[in-house]
Amino acid sequence: MDLYTVIGNPVAHSRSPAMHQHFAALTGQNISYDRTLAPVGQFTDVFQRRVAEGLLGANVTVPFKEVAWQRAEQLTARAEQAGAVNTLARQADGSWLGDNTDGAGLVADLQRLGMPLRGQRLLIVGAGGATRGILGALLAQQPASVTLANRTRAKADMLAADFAIEAVAMAALAGRQFDVLINATAASLQDLLLPLPVSLCAGAKLAYDLVYRQGGTVFEHWALAHGCAQSADGLGMLVAQGAESFALWRGVRPDWQQVLTAMREVE
Ligand code: ATR
Repeated sequence: MDLYTVIGNPVAHSRSPAMHQHFAALTGQNISYDRTLAPVGQFTDVFQRRVAEGLLGANVTVPFKEVAWQRAEQLTARAEQAGAVNTLARQADGSWLGDNTDGAGLVADLQRLGMPLRGQRLLIVGAGGATRGILGALLAQQPASVTLANRTRAKADMLAADFAIEAVAMAALAGRQFDVLINATAASLQDLLLPLPVSLCAGAKLAYDLVYRQGGTVFEHWALAHGCAQSADGLGMLVAQGAESFALWRGVRPDWQQVLTAMREVE
């Protein structure tokens, strides 16, 4: 059977296998999709072992997206720009193509939520790999502005310079207004609240957390409690980016919103 996997550390709780089996069932494809735990520093060895077993494609998650970018022999333009790869696809000649579907997944989910970005003011909190992975796709939607804030100011400055956008200190956000607030930090994974001014919330249309959590993340709860109109966690982005990967591998695009509904039900 055609073999796919998700490689990460940790990876035990990844929902990608269930999601890709949904996509396969919906599109009448026959695939096997499992999890691969790689020790930190051993991505390439573990990947080669799976390649020897006949692997046709892989999703790559934390902390291996940068090393996967180095491993890929060819890169899509969006992966090149992101500096990170979340999808590897075996080509007919046996070489590996690296793609990054995270930004496209986020944009697709924002569209599902009725939040097209054109002309909107965006605030992104966080300046790690997750932010780098989505910035290109967000900017391509032609928002009015994109502002970056991060706990470590120097990282926000560097990333903002690469993409020609504004960086500000978190404390300097008091009194500023944005239409969409995006949490791209790892804080929600630890259920930690970000030190952001509550004045951000009342005028905002949507607070979006890249992390997913049954019942909502602390960032979502904080935003709604202080007057933000709507919130969402990152499950929709996960499913939409997965559908992009599936399309790259199988040449057929599943109805990802149907799979999102099914995955919400089994949460
Ligand atoms: P990823 O590749 O998933 O983005 P990362 O590169 O480690 O991971 O970046 C994590 C992001 O979450 C960073 O912006 C980090 O802020 P720093 O650059 O200051 O480290 C942010 N982050 C993690 N924990 C945080 C916390 N408790 N409060 C605020 N920001 C946090």
